[in-house]
Amino acid sequence: MAVERTLSIVKPDAVGKNVIGEILARFEKAGLQIVAAKMVKLDEEKAGGFYAEHKERPFFPALVSFMTSGPVVVQVLEGENAIALNRELMGATNPQQAAAGTIRADFAESIDANAVHGSDSAASAEREIAYFFAADEICSR
Ligand code: TYD
Ligand code: MG
Repeated sequence: MAVERTLSIVKPDAVGKNVIGEILARFEKAGLQIVAAKMVKLDEEKAGGFYAEHKERPFFPALVSFMTSGPVVVQVLEGENAIALNRELMGATNPQQAAAGTIRADFAESIDANAVHGSDSAASAEREIAYFFAADEICSR
């Protein structure tokens, strides 16, 4: 298995619940390293561009509205199999279907306010990391 990087976002609902640290600790406990991180308040353009693949979906306006409703914490996770491992730690998009012990099962209320984002493929990870971080803001150890 290769060392990969993936983009993770602690979404506004989780920031509002004051569980940033608990969520980041799960990544570290699973063996992933946080190699870049920042807190930002997204505007409509930045959130809409990030979720451009969903632009035609009926939930897009609500998604952009939610993602701009408060600050988010964006980080790059690095490690063996980081992309799939992060998706496993996150759990299913709908927290009602998320496996017990996953981040979404434990911290998310609903499919639209579901605590975390994680890249779903190597191509998405590359695009999403570059969307938020310059190369010199990522610090592999
Ligand atoms: P998606 O990329 O399908 O899920 P994931 O975050 O697991 O990769 O969708 C992006 C976000 O859009 C999702 O986290 C929450 C929102 N969303 C809804 O609000 N309703 C929906 O029916 C879907 C599929 C997604
Ligand atoms: Mg997705």
